[in-house]
Amino acid sequence: MQIAPSILAADFTCLGEEIRKVAGADYIHLDIMDGHFVPNISYGPELVASLRPLTKIPFDVHLMLEHPRFYIPAFHKAGADLITFHVECKDSIQETLDAIQSRGIKAGLVLKPGTPVEALWPWIDRIDLVLIMTVEPGFGGQRFMPLMLEKVRKIKERAPHIPVEVDGGVNEETIEACAWADVDICVAGSGVFRAKDPEQALKKLQSY
Ligand code: DX5
Ligand code: ZN
Repeated sequence: MQIAPSILAADFTCLGEEIRKVAGADYIHLDIMDGHFVPNISYGPELVASLRPLTKIPFDVHLMLEHPRFYIPAFHKAGADLITFHVECKDSIQETLDAIQSRGIKAGLVLKPGTPVEALWPWIDRIDLVLIMTVEPGFGGQRFMPLMLEKVRKIKERAPHIPVEVDGGVNEETIEACAWADVDICVAGSGVFRAKDPEQALKKLQSY
């Protein structure tokens, strides 16, 4: 399994050291929250840019924003390799996808737990990845929602070539179900950074 540690669960007083602990990661997951789309505020493009020189690991930027379109140039400049945004956002999906992909960045659409998988079908041939939320977006450390894996099954049936990522509550107990469901990438915040030994926890998750 490919693992994208989410730095939302890392120690913000020493992010550089935290990033070094996950040097073997497949992606670094960066959660951007605006206090409107979700009831929480995280960090912005400046922080992402300041982490960029510390590692070559691809940056997976998850935009939990009501209006993601406006911020695409800033996250491009900050060094994003993959940008995902929510199908429930208030911007034109077409324009936002164009803004991302025309900059040579991979683009993915995210579904909240309450959004049916069918919301993806109009875009499925245009996107590089799907991100399925397995918790309500906004906070780390919540409980994994196994029913969301049914969405993964439907995506794999309809578009087997598209990588599927899941986000929220992935840890040593829940990752096996993700592996069985053919998930390609798992985000893990607390499952990695709140473990006694983040490096070992990451390796263990990758072994599934
Ligand atoms: C939730 C974020 C997640 C979060 C995952 O809104 O999108 O990426 O950091 O954290 P854990 O793995 O602790 O559920
Ligand atoms: Zn996320």
